[in-house]
Amino acid sequence: MFYDPAHTYEENYHEGPWGDFGAFERGDGKSYGVFFGHTLTSPIGIGAGILPTSRHIEAAVIAGFDPVTYKTVRRRERPSNPFPNMVRLYPKGTDIHPDDTVVGNVDMRGFDVTKDGATNSFGVPSKTPDVWQPDLARAVAIAKGKATLIASFMGTMRDGMSREAYIADFVETARLVKQTAVPVMEVNLSCPNVSGIHGLVCHDIETSAAILAALHEAKGDTPLLVKIAYFPPEGPLEPLLESIHQYADGVVAVNAIHAKVVDKEGKQLLPGDSSRLYSGTCGRMVRWAGLEMAERMLSYKKKKEWRDFVVVGVGGVTTPEDYRLYKTIGVDVVESVTGANWRPELAYEISAKT
Ligand SMILES: Cc1cc2nc3c(=O)[nH]c(=O)nc-3n(C[C@H](O)[C@H](O)[C@H](O)COP(=O)(O)O)c2cc1C
Repeated sequence: MFYDPAHTYEENYHEGPWGDFGAFERGDGKSYGVFFGHTLTSPIGIGAGILPTSRHIEAAVIAGFDPVTYKTVRRRERPSNPFPNMVRLYPKGTDIHPDDTVVGNVDMRGFDVTKDGATNSFGVPSKTPDVWQPDLARAVAIAKGKATLIASFMGTMRDGMSREAYIADFVETARLVKQTAVPVMEVNLSCPNVSGIHGLVCHDIETSAAILAALHEAKGDTPLLVKIAYFPPEGPLEPLLESIHQYADGVVAVNAIHAKVVDKEGKQLLPGDSSRLYSGTCGRMVRWAGLEMAERMLSYKKKKEWRDFVVVGVGGVTTPEDYRLYKTIGVDVVESVTGANWRPELAYEISAKT
């Protein structure tokens, strides 16, 4: 396991990962396509979340994933939400939709990632740039020639902040990321932009366009991916894709699905203030959302004939069969987060069948 939910975020950050990832080393030397000019050494990558340090990146590279994503960083320090941050969800095998209420359990014993759902509630913690910049630079060196490193980042909305200052925070963070010479950057637009739960930046088309326009200059010649959340079928996905195409190089979907997580009595499960009633559900139960978004993004890309526009599919990939579903739709790259965390053998398994 890359990120161990039985430990706090700080323990994972300072001491993890604990497993032996060499057992899954492939060394098949095959090429799985080209990603922004870099040859992919694996059929599957790891999306943002479970690789918060260069040690975790190293483990993911050893386990044969490519590309590998360094967990989202910010310009200022932000602590993690209180422990626990990941719990299992019931019932097994169901799909979770935005705003659903689901029963969770902090006891993860016997957790089977191919059937059980999970939720994560971290609040996107970050160290200060003087800590993450040198570590990200180390990750760049570790991954070089073996896997393409993607660095995820975001701006931070603070009380009383103007829209301009918020946009400037994205730009400044992008500059700090770019200084590490990371080959690919990813802006996380699927985070809340106001205190409260539902105001995701990517659902605010005007603000997203303004952020992307500002990032266009800051990114220079470094490819920029944009991580977005689920859009309901009537939602404004197409105008957002237009801005992404205009100012960036590709899109990654889907982020976790916001749902209410309660205990058996129907009370908020995770400790802390009422904002923790909602958390981001991930894994098998959100695969439908990742597949649906992949279909919609690819059909728009085809209609517009955007040849070089990269579409990355993520959400609920826990087996080679899940991977195949995304590839059949035609995404350029498939990533896994929750599935790869509990099944670091996934890259090995998929490449054996590809
Ligand atoms: C432990 C954990 C932490 C995450 N942290 C981030 C993050 O920092 N930035 C981000 O864009 N997405 C984050 N995500 C969302 C994932 O990148 C992914 O979009 C989502 O979990 C769906 O994929 P999955 O079903 O393979 O987990 C996180 C997911 C998990 C499980």
